[in-house]
Amino acid sequence: MFKKTTLSILLAASLSVGATPAWAAPKENLQSDQAFDNRIVKRIKVDNIYNHIVKLSENPRVAGTPGEDAAVEYIKSQFESYGYDTEVQPFEIYSYTAPSLIELKVDGMNFEQAPLDFSYGVNGEVTADLVDAGLGATSDFAEKDVEGKIALIERGGFSFAEKILNASKAGAAGVIIYNNTDGVLNGTLGEPNDKYVPAVAITQEQGTELKERLENGETVTATLKIEGAETDKAISHNVVATKEATHKSTNQLILVGAHHDSVDGAPGANDDASGTATVLELARVFANAPTDTDIRFVTFGAEENGLLGSYEFVERMTQEDYDRTVGMFQMDMVGSKDAGDLIMYTTDGDKNTVTDLGAAAGARLSKTGEATAYGMQGRSDHVPFSEIGLPSALFIHAPVEPWYHSPEDTIDKISKEKLKEVSNIVGAAVYQVARPDTPALEKAKVAPKEVDYDFEEREL
Ligand code: BES
Ligand code: ZN
Repeated sequence: MFKKTTLSILLAASLSVGATPAWAAPKENLQSDQAFDNRIVKRIKVDNIYNHIVKLSENPRVAGTPGEDAAVEYIKSQFESYGYDTEVQPFEIYSYTAPSLIELKVDGMNFEQAPLDFSYGVNGEVTADLVDAGLGATSDFAEKDVEGKIALIERGGFSFAEKILNASKAGAAGVIIYNNTDGVLNGTLGEPNDKYVPAVAITQEQGTELKERLENGETVTATLKIEGAETDKAISHNVVATKEATHKSTNQLILVGAHHDSVDGAPGANDDASGTATVLELARVFANAPTDTDIRFVTFGAEENGLLGSYEFVERMTQEDYDRTVGMFQMDMVGSKDAGDLIMYTTDGDKNTVTDLGAAAGARLSKTGEATAYGMQGRSDHVPFSEIGLPSALFIHAPVEPWYHSPEDTIDKISKEKLKEVSNIVGAAVYQVARPDTPALEKAKVAPKEVDYDFEEREL
């Protein structure tokens, strides 16, 4: 585990000195900042980014499948062609094949909206009486006899896996979980467990009807059957290319990332071939740039399985690298013509070094001088970094496009203008720290006061 003390001491020390960091450029430095920006911006070729997306989105890139393997091979060979030594970090994940049959039969009900499985759930067949088990907490089972029965449980409060394990521990032979809001419940148990009992998900309406029948004293018998679900072990990968400082090193490290995997059935042109392709093009441009800072370009695997690649990366990070990391820039869904404007999300909704750099670069590069907005959101690979105390932010367009996680997330929805804007901003932001004339870690930790940028509660 990482110790955060070093960072907070550095931060406190630099704040107490109260010096303005040199890279928090006063007005008169604007021109030279823009000249530095141009060293990167003018070299970024948006057609390269677009062509990477074309290649990457030919097929889905589900973690642990040959589709991901092909993407990893492509990314590695691109990094190597720019001259980087490239590390591939393999790690184990679970792959899940959905059941061939999901059946739920209850007298007097037709389940027009078909019940769904939970990812990593188990197969089985059970016919038994239903018992209302509230939210499925341990206390809900304390006064109830569910031995050999099917527990009817409402969604909410804690995870589906916990509900099923509590029911199993109390002796239940099956579980039905109903939604606590409109729409279908498409849930995951996160990982396999041989203590699970067969479980299905139904809608709020269906669950409420069953609950009412039980409350009226009726004995309700159900048959629940799941066949063909399969959980296997598989290997996903992170791909890591490091640019070492070319000038006298300040011993700083910047991380630039995106996830290369996609969800099943989706070509993932925007999610997240767009971010991966931008990481590749920035790596190409920075390969020949003079820097005093190490830059690590990373594409993560298994983001869609629960940020597994970025958790793996953080787990493998050395304390030394942790201590010298200025920030982590994550790009996810950065090229859709059908999405809204660029926004930077932090997990806590607070500004940090990364959003300060991004906002300043956005202001320098935009025609109107307007800085990029920020907001609060998790849901991507910046989360594990922020959890260990490193400044990180997700660069994304919001509201997101309607094709998100669908087979329609294809190359024809990609906008070169959007790609250009994001790659320019992230490239310029990174270069503000990495260029040889700007000072070292402890000063880079101090927020620049040069731009005003606002918190936005924007719809996703
Ligand atoms: N690109 C999305 C994240 C996203 C989508 C952020 C929409 C903001 C708005 C990402 O690939 C994703 O789908 N993440 C998962 C969460 C993850 C922990 C499995 C999600 O949001 O469901
Ligand atoms: Zn994504």
